[in-house]
Parts: sequence; C-alpha cells; structure tokens
Amino acid sequence: MSLPPIRIAPSILSADFGRLRDEIVAITEAGADLVHIDVMDGHFVPNLTIGPMIVEVVRRETDLPLDVHLMITNADEFIDRYAEAGADVIGVHVEASTHLHKTVSHIRALGKKACVVLNPATTIDAIRYVLGDVDQVLIMSVNPGFGGQSFIRAVLPKVRRLRALISELGLNVDIEIDGGIKMDNLAEVVAAGANVLVSGSGIFKGGDYQQTISAMRKAAQAAQA
Ligand code: DX5
Ligand code: ZN
Repeated sequence: MSLPPIRIAPSILSADFGRLRDEIVAITEAGADLVHIDVMDGHFVPNLTIGPMIVEVVRRETDLPLDVHLMITNADEFIDRYAEAGADVIGVHVEASTHLHKTVSHIRALGKKACVVLNPATTIDAIRYVLGDVDQVLIMSVNPGFGGQSFIRAVLPKVRRLRALISELGLNVDIEIDGGIKMDNLAEVVAAGANVLVSGSGIFKGGDYQQTISAMRKAAQAAQA
C-alpha cells in the first residue's frame, strides 16, 4: 500500500487572535495543508475557545480544509452548526460520545469527513468497530485543553498499533497526532504511522512559518521513507 500523505495542520490556538485574519493568510501562504481549529467548552476540558462564528471568519480567509477538533461534552448538538460554519473535517472525542457510530455517520451524512479523537489514556479498542466509518483518527499526545504542553511519549505504541490495524483491515484512514509536536519528535511520530501532524506552538511561536512548515514536511517525508 502507498504511504499515507503527510499533512501539516497548524493549530490556530497558538495564533495571535488580535491578528487572526493575517495569521490565517500567513499559514495559508506558508504552505499549510489544513487549518486545525480547537473548540473547547469549559466542561470537557478546562478551557474555553472558539465557537462557530470564528470558524466562519476562518472560512472566509482561506480555501484550506478546516479541521475542527471538538473538545465538548455535547458534540451532537453542535455538529450541524460547525458544518454550516465551514468545517471540512469534524472530530469528536470518544470519551464524550455515547453513540459514536451514530455521531460519525451523521458527520458523513452532512458531507464532511469524520474524525474520532482519543485522549492519551484511551485505548484503540474504543474505536475498533467504527474504523470503517471514519476518515481520520486523532491521537492526542497531550491531555487536551491547552497549547504548549509537552509531548506524551507513551502514545507512540498506540499510533503504531493503530497503523497496523488500519493496514490489516485494508482501510484508508488518516492518523492525526496533536499535542507537543515539534521538529524534535516529528520523525518518530511519523515513523510510528501518523501522517497528519498538528502543531500549534511549534509553528506559531517560532519564526518564519513557511520555513517551519517546509522543514516539518521534509523531516516527516524522510521519516516515512
Ligand atoms: C490541545 C489542542 C491542540 C493544541 C496543540 O488541547 O487540541 O491542538 O493547540 O498545541 P501544541 O502544538 O502547542 O501542543
Ligand atoms: Zn487540537
């Protein structure tokens, strides 16, 4: 099977919100593949961030796919709103979902890509029977809630097992990794099987976005070879 395509997804949680429009234009011009948008509700995670109104603003400023990561307890009540606001990929946490199959089927019925998200302590057994119904699995490599945390290495075997399971089942599912991804750990997460790399502080708190994104892409592609 061919190698899954590397995609670099800057997380705008670390962007300068006073200049959000410029930041979106800048990462688009810098060669990002997706825009990762972190939605937090103050219940599922101890932080509050972005609602559908901001997603609409981002949608107006870029043609890149919007990867919306819902860290909210009642995702089913809000999926339609984020879809209307312009999300292309919608991710729901398995820890916050009672009827996961129904939820991912609903996302796909709206014409969007469905993503299921696993916290660091959650095993891949939780998503085994929806793997054929999703486009992407997001493995959290920090406890969700804040940007700028340290990468949790213990998730690497989970990425490896998930990539093996996806190949064994002959599926075409992206593995996204989110939390503490920087130049110094990117090669090992890609070697483990991740192909969609979220990075917030690693991109926005560095210097030149274009240089960072192309260096990340190069290192990731080298790690796949
Ligand atoms: C954390 C968010 C991440 C975060 C990543 O809850 O889901 O997307 O913005 O930021 P860094 O790359 O700084 O860990
Ligand atoms: Zn995220």
